Amino acid sequence: MVAELVGAPVATRPRIRVEGVAKSFTGSVVVDVDELVLGDKPIEGLIGPNGAGKTTLMRMIMHSIPLDRGRIMLLPPGRDAVELSGLPAHWMARHGVVKSNQVIMDFDDLTIWDSLLLAVAEPAVEQPHRLFSERSVFARHEGEMRRYLELFGFADPSAFALSAGEKKVLDIIRCLLLRPTFLLLDEPTAGLSEDVTEKVMGVVRELAAAGTSVVIVEHDLNVIWSLCDEVHFMAEGRVILHGDPASIRANSTVVEKYLGEGHV
Ligand SMILES: Nc1ncnc2c1ncn2[C@@H]1O[C@H](COP(=O)(O)OP(=O)(O)O)[C@@H](O)[C@H]1O
Ligand SMILES: [Mg+2]
Repeated sequence: MVAELVGAPVATRPRIRVEGVAKSFTGSVVVDVDELVLGDKPIEGLIGPNGAGKTTLMRMIMHSIPLDRGRIMLLPPGRDAVELSGLPAHWMARHGVVKSNQVIMDFDDLTIWDSLLLAVAEPAVEQPHRLFSERSVFARHEGEMRRYLELFGFADPSAFALSAGEKKVLDIIRCLLLRPTFLLLDEPTAGLSEDVTEKVMGVVRELAAAGTSVVIVEHDLNVIWSLCDEVHFMAEGRVILHGDPASIRANSTVVEKYLGEGHV
């Protein structure tokens, strides 16, 4: 077995390949991507002007929006490819693919602790309503839940999340608890303080170092430049450039279509 692998370039982390996908809303094309591979590098950024199609593309990868055409493949290292665009959205986490939400989940009716418990049990338990008696789910995640809640300063897990920032951080913790092998983050630090942003960046780096592929959409370009190993630039539904942060930052098309608009 090992001998077969010697000498062959083996991908060590999962990748996602987008193949000829398009999406229109009310007659206008908002995403039209011929070919895009995500996950060659540990942390990749997807940037571009408002309305470029970044959120839509991420939602298409998660199959929470059906594709008009094309397909999206998950390429796990050493295993058969999985057609994500053939799976229901709620199966993604079973394959390790998890996304945070630009618009946060509504946690209003659940305590912080229960909302996280529900989130981690959802892909694992056939009947999610039984999870509150599922000791195994609780036992598997308790230590991690406490560690993340402490890191992000949630003193009382039996309280309710109040601010938009708290809900946003809880959504990120939810993603981490699902132990993703491929994590998509849609503006994870928007609206967060500098201190909390640093902590989010810290956990993202930690996760990527442990082998997870991370793709991040973010308007705060300081986050992109400092976090990403590779950046994809999207405009008008197409991913038109790829490169390391320094070359993307200096690229005249990026400057003209995006950076020059006062986004920096
Ligand atoms: N559900 C929807 N119905 C109609 N138009 C949509 C919908 N979702 C997104 N759009 C449109 O698609 C375009 C791309 O949006 P989006 O993917 O959110 O861009 P980005 O995340 O890059 O800012 C925008 O013009 C937006 O108004
Ligand atoms: Mg968006």
